[in-house]
Amino acid sequence: MYQGKFYRLLHPRPTLVVVSRCPGGRLNLMPASWNTPVSEDPPTVAVAVERSSYTHECLKHHRRATLNVLPLEAADLIYKLGTVSGRDVDKAAQFGVAFEKSEKVDVPRVAGAIAGYEAEVYMEVEVGEVTLFIFKVLHSWAAPGVADQWGYDFKRVNIPLHGAGRAFYGVDPRPRFVKKT
Ligand SMILES: Cc1cc2nc3c(=O)[nH]c(=O)nc-3n(C[C@H](O)[C@H](O)[C@H](O)COP(=O)(O)O)c2cc1C
Repeated sequence: MYQGKFYRLLHPRPTLVVVSRCPGGRLNLMPASWNTPVSEDPPTVAVAVERSSYTHECLKHHRRATLNVLPLEAADLIYKLGTVSGRDVDKAAQFGVAFEKSEKVDVPRVAGAIAGYEAEVYMEVEVGEVTLFIFKVLHSWAAPGVADQWGYDFKRVNIPLHGAGRAFYGVDPRPRFVKKT
């Protein structure tokens, strides 16, 4: 029997920062490492969002969001964004986060993000204490030079893989290929 929480065996995980538009129009940011692509057609990405979070309320209020991949160097900011609630503070103002206009949705991207999705809520699944928001990807983007058709160039950028608590990992840029038999 594994002694820790069951989900630790599925970490570290790529972390997204979800930007949502809240009642009153303010933007909120929440890191989410419980995320996954779901289907290719339509293109969907799911994020498990705790029902008690402000992001949950904001996604119920406004159905579009951006899902941002920040560089590993932003791990400290990402952690901080996950330690306070937008109910209590304006996180963008408190942590000096700037935004950039999106192409397809009326919610901006995080300035300095290396990649991300512009998305709208497509389906919701209630599971325990979370709502699994399945987003339809309306537009995906990557900063120039950081990714090709096979994904990120880890010699040039790294992404934040959330371990536990304050621990984040990067990807070792040396690929391990499966040997031909
Ligand atoms: C690295 C990291 C990953 C997290 N992943 C998730 C997640 O996948 N789902 C979730 O509901 N909360 C997650 N959290 C916790 C929320 O980010 C945290 O509860 C946040 O304060 C909610 O903010 P809000 O109330 O403004 O929405 C994570 C926190 C951190 C630091």
